[in-house]
Amino acid sequence: MAEERLVEKWRPKSLDEIIGQPKAIRLVKRNVKNGLRAHLLFWGPIGVGKTSVAKCLPKEKPLAEELEKSAPVGGDFVPKNGRELDRDKTREISRAAKSAGRRIYFIDEADGMRKDIQQILRTTLELVTETTFIFSCNDLSDIAEGINSRCSPIPFKKLEDEHIMEIILRVCKGEGWDVSSKEAKKALESLAKHADGDGRKALNILEL
Ligand SMILES: Nc1ncnc2c1ncn2[C@@H]1O[C@H](COP(=O)(O)OP(=O)(O)OP(=O)(O)O)[C@@H](O)[C@H]1O
Ligand SMILES: [Mg+2]
Repeated sequence: MAEERLVEKWRPKSLDEIIGQPKAIRLVKRNVKNGLRAHLLFWGPIGVGKTSVAKCLPKEKPLAEELEKSAPVGGDFVPKNGRELDRDKTREISRAAKSAGRRIYFIDEADGMRKDIQQILRTTLELVTETTFIFSCNDLSDIAEGINSRCSPIPFKKLEDEHIMEIILRVCKGEGWDVSSKEAKKALESLAKHADGDGRKALNILEL
């Protein structure tokens, strides 16, 4: 069987494992505490933890218990890619979102959604009571105002070199790699700089 890539193998499994995003985590935790009733819009540069945070959410308490109790058939956390949504798929999401059962739809790469698709979802956001939408994007200017204004914004920032270092060292430790020598440390520091704030890029270079 092929080895799992480092980015997936070491994707944070809980919000407390997310590095260097204190503001986003504070806002997300506050929303979770309130039962995650508001739709959220994650935005920020690439490879900084947006998808990772979304994937952690269904496991956070007290949301986890709530989802478990009322999970509809077909899952309570439904990931979708904004680029892949056509009218049929989006109408299907709208229909399901309006039906009974607590659900979270996670629309990744939301800035890749067509304008007509955003229009359909914009209306859906107003009509749903048990479904929460979470959108994630890099470029806020590609998100229709109608969606933007119906979501709580959660800004993610570019990671500092020290945070990239922390991510790399966590993976090295987990893999059991000895990076205690001066040379290794220097090489990792240069890798962290090269990653330019992108955690995914850092782990992909580390894998080479
Ligand atoms: N803040 C972080 N804390 C810990 N690990 C991180 C963080 N950001 C990125 N990573 C690592 O990089 C990988 C990719 O991150 P993620 O998919 O969450 O980025 P993203 O912000 O969704 O990027 P994109 O905008 O390209 O979708 C994760 O699997 C994880 O290993
Ligand atoms: Mg992502």
